[in-house]
Amino acid sequence: MRELILVMDFGGQYNQLIARRVRDLHQYCEIIPYDAPLAEITAKAPKGIIFTGGPSVVTAEGAPAADAALFEAGIPILGICYGCQLMGHMLGGEIARPETGEYGKADIEFDTRSPLFAGLDARSSAWMSHTYYVSAPPPGFAVIAKTAACPVAAMSNDARKLYGVQFHPEVVHTPLGSQILANFIFGVCGCKGNWKMDDFARETVEALKERIGDKKVLCALSGGVDSTVAAVLVHKAVGRQLTCVFVDHGLMRLNEGDEVESVFRGQFDMNLIRVDASARFLAALRGISDPESKRRVIGAEFIRVFEEEAKKIGAVDFLVQGTIYADVVESGDKKAATIKSHHNVGGLPEVIDFKEIIEPLRDLFKDEVRAVGRSLGIPAALVNRQPFPGPGLAIRIIGDITKQKLDTLRLADYIFRSEIAAAGLQNDIWQYFAVLTDLRSVGVMGDERTYSHTIALRAVTSLDAMTADWARIPFPVLEKISVRLVNEVENINRVVYDITSKPPATIEWE
Ligand code: XMP
Repeated sequence: MRELILVMDFGGQYNQLIARRVRDLHQYCEIIPYDAPLAEITAKAPKGIIFTGGPSVVTAEGAPAADAALFEAGIPILGICYGCQLMGHMLGGEIARPETGEYGKADIEFDTRSPLFAGLDARSSAWMSHTYYVSAPPPGFAVIAKTAACPVAAMSNDARKLYGVQFHPEVVHTPLGSQILANFIFGVCGCKGNWKMDDFARETVEALKERIGDKKVLCALSGGVDSTVAAVLVHKAVGRQLTCVFVDHGLMRLNEGDEVESVFRGQFDMNLIRVDASARFLAALRGISDPESKRRVIGAEFIRVFEEEAKKIGAVDFLVQGTIYADVVESGDKKAATIKSHHNVGGLPEVIDFKEIIEPLRDLFKDEVRAVGRSLGIPAALVNRQPFPGPGLAIRIIGDITKQKLDTLRLADYIFRSEIAAAGLQNDIWQYFAVLTDLRSVGVMGDERTYSHTIALRAVTSLDAMTADWARIPFPVLEKISVRLVNEVENINRVVYDITSKPPATIEWE
């Protein structure tokens, strides 16, 4: 039987991250709400439970709590932040509110005799984010870590296999965090850690088979990694019961539409409808320069085209969406996911005649989605693709959009990407692309005066696109790109490199 770690959700911001760290350790885990009935929990026979952090105060009336019997069930528990305070409070320790909270990086001292900290350096740092803390551990508990501001940075009762940490082992700012989670999962809970992302793919396909049965499924393909992986998962489960509609808005990068088509039709033999709507999109965008208006027009047009195609297909039972964890707005109600307003398939559910949404990637992070994609045999070029915005090149052309500008940008972007790949830098950079500015300037080519466009190059490093830094591309590589761009792309006589971080800039120019 598959070994299971349960992550019990008390509403913290990092809950998915905890699950993700556990999965990174090749340990299967599931997230359950804090109020899941005890019988349901024990029926799952978890090898261990992790209580997450949360925004509440454990001593407040009505604060989320665990079933007290859970502490007696013989299941190892690791409480993190709120989870630690909850364990402290429910088992008879004291909770206090110090004069100042503790937020950010703190120097910490671990008692490495504890199984939780075995093999660690005794001194390190840990990420703190709390207003309250455990001021005295419950009877039978030992203090196993401290910081200057936190007397019980960690506590344990080894005999009962109960552990609490005030800090967040799941964030990267706690350098030994993964080792601590590993110590809990393998050392304390005795898990073997033999679960892999391939298993996720296999199990999801099995579950989808069961859920869909012989019914009809529709998927809107954007050509991006997420919708691609979602579609292939569903296709593996139900084959040609799935119809994919790929709206080609003509705003994609060079050859991209054809690549998507060849993978879906050629490699996977999918039921694919590719709609060439480029002329429609160009017409709808004519004369529009304002970035938000562009997004709105593209979003609306996308839905219109998709709706027309869906009408031809008729009613379906399921609509597949490539929603991933980053798209899920933490709303407390996990069922009411809101898809980012800028997501290019955001408005679909309102106009399509279907009964249920399938979102097989909802709990995954981007790199996990890529791992699933690889395990499904999707070509690396598609799976490792850098993020690409739904509105495509339209928001990389400053000012109004014309076919000629699109062609210019497509070629410039292609040259930039080829040179980054040739320099072997593609895995070091989060996103890299060209922007066609609306700036024209004077130049001289072959003794002739020119008055042409400026191409801006944007390349950033980032972990999650929330913040980003400009990539330090070596000058010789930039030089080569610049020379190729002015030589090979018509209408370009100047190349600039964007050296702004995010914030204050954003990654895209619009
Ligand atoms: P910004 O420009 O806000 O972008 O720093 C953050 C990340 O989001 C991508 N992005 C989009 N993705 N539809 C999308 O699907 C959009 O409208 C959109 N706008 C920005 C951007 O490429 C970066 O990865």
